[in-house]
Amino acid sequence: MNILSNIRKLTMRDQSAIDNYISHLFAPEDDHLKQISIRLKAYDDFLYRIQIQPSEARLIQIFMNLVVVKTAVEIGSLAGYSATWIARALPADGLVHAINKDPDHYNLLQQAAKDEPRIKPHLGNASEVLKQLSENAPYDMVFIDADKGGYAHYLDWAEKHVRKGGLIIGDNTLLFGHVLEDEYPAGDKAPSRKAWSAMREFNQRLSDESKYNATLVPTKEGMTVAIKLF
Ligand code: DHB
Ligand code: MG
Repeated sequence: MNILSNIRKLTMRDQSAIDNYISHLFAPEDDHLKQISIRLKAYDDFLYRIQIQPSEARLIQIFMNLVVVKTAVEIGSLAGYSATWIARALPADGLVHAINKDPDHYNLLQQAAKDEPRIKPHLGNASEVLKQLSENAPYDMVFIDADKGGYAHYLDWAEKHVRKGGLIIGDNTLLFGHVLEDEYPAGDKAPSRKAWSAMREFNQRLSDESKYNATLVPTKEGMTVAIKLF
């Protein structure tokens, strides 16, 4: 029996004691962030549980500040929780373009962005929205947290539209443990073949030292962080 076959339920973002300790000290949530979570939980408890953790959001903020991010694109924004953390790591005149394809999620995102001028919500298929955003490239960062089968395609876009020295970050890059499998792990608990192969490709490409300064940070879900060198 493959030890990874059951990993999916272990990887849900239940708050561990370690998460709580880190969040309390380094990533406390204000009322605005708490309200975003409350609205998402009321809408869909599963989606609430796949939001990034405060500790992960802080990590993104620190990386942003290290490479000096002023403009960012987020692919897959859900209720605007991560976009809010990203916006707060931007200068006052910075901007994060936040993309959702689901109109309900977009509605939640708009509520999160109401008092945060640094978030610009976009409704639509990411590929379509990214085409429009190409016009204002390059960007300092792309954060990818959308459909897992799309990660290789989103990396194609990020490679073209992130500046040299900018950041590419992907969430869920352990693919619930399945990215470790050298062959497609067919079975009940398996991700789609497309998601598995896209995530394998995503990490493989970002591991190219001639193009990226990168690693996979072993958060529960896995977060690949790459500085683009070209
Ligand atoms: C899933 C998606 C996410 O973006 C995440 O952080 C966790 C889980 C999912 O599709 O199951
Ligand atoms: Mg995610």
